[in-house]
Amino acid sequence: MRKQIAAANWKMNLTLQQGEQLLTHILAAAKPSKQNHQVVFAVPFPYLAMAQERISGMAGTFIAAQNCSDKKSGAYTGEVSVEMLQSLGIRFVVLGHSERREYFNESNRLLAEKLNICLENKMQPIFCCGEALQIREAGTQNEFVAQQLKESLYHLSGEQLQQVVIAYEPIWAIGTGKTASSAQAQEMHAFIRQQLAAQYGATVADSISILYGGSVKAANAVELFSQPDVDGGLVGGASLIAEEFVAIISALK
Ligand code: 13P
Repeated sequence: MRKQIAAANWKMNLTLQQGEQLLTHILAAAKPSKQNHQVVFAVPFPYLAMAQERISGMAGTFIAAQNCSDKKSGAYTGEVSVEMLQSLGIRFVVLGHSERREYFNESNRLLAEKLNICLENKMQPIFCCGEALQIREAGTQNEFVAQQLKESLYHLSGEQLQQVVIAYEPIWAIGTGKTASSAQAQEMHAFIRQQLAAQYGATVADSISILYGGSVKAANAVELFSQPDVDGGLVGGASLIAEEFVAIISALK
């Protein structure tokens, strides 16, 4: 049975003290309730050690970095390597968020490199994909997402792909309060799974968790997560509010 995942993406928000308080509240109120449920917190780099310590010994709860370098080590001032993350016990890395693609020019090809270095080091990528509004309006979102998958993922073996979590985040729904309808989310998630099945076979495709991201909140999580191909969410704004994220965790199917 594939994993159902509630993943918080704090982005560049909160002080250390605020982050600690938020984690304390959420962890006290919500625990993954089923064997196949996972809760992930993608926190800013300086808070990784604190967060990792907070979740230590908690089943099904993990910390993620929001990015990593495509290089192993060396003279890359300001970068953070997978090996460093690993030495803290970090298990997941968010890769290819639309904000990194847009503001830091991350290309499908660079993301393929980052995926490689993560997988070589047993770090699980949460690979983000998704189209901008003008692509949705032109009706070419399937082609666009298929290209993102092809250029960043299809060099991987089936076994490697099974370590990847995919997050579909339509850019027009991120931070806008405008959520994709559950039908729109299901349609794209089914399309992504179908693409993976064509490339890797149905068994591999069926085992991959595909999360939805874009204005997920307590009020819409149950409806979104109830869709057959939506395996949880990657949550920005609502993950910064303890009661919201606790409700989102309990909306996992
Ligand atoms: P919001 O939930 O704030 O729309 O952000 C979604 C997102 O980008 C998660 O990675």
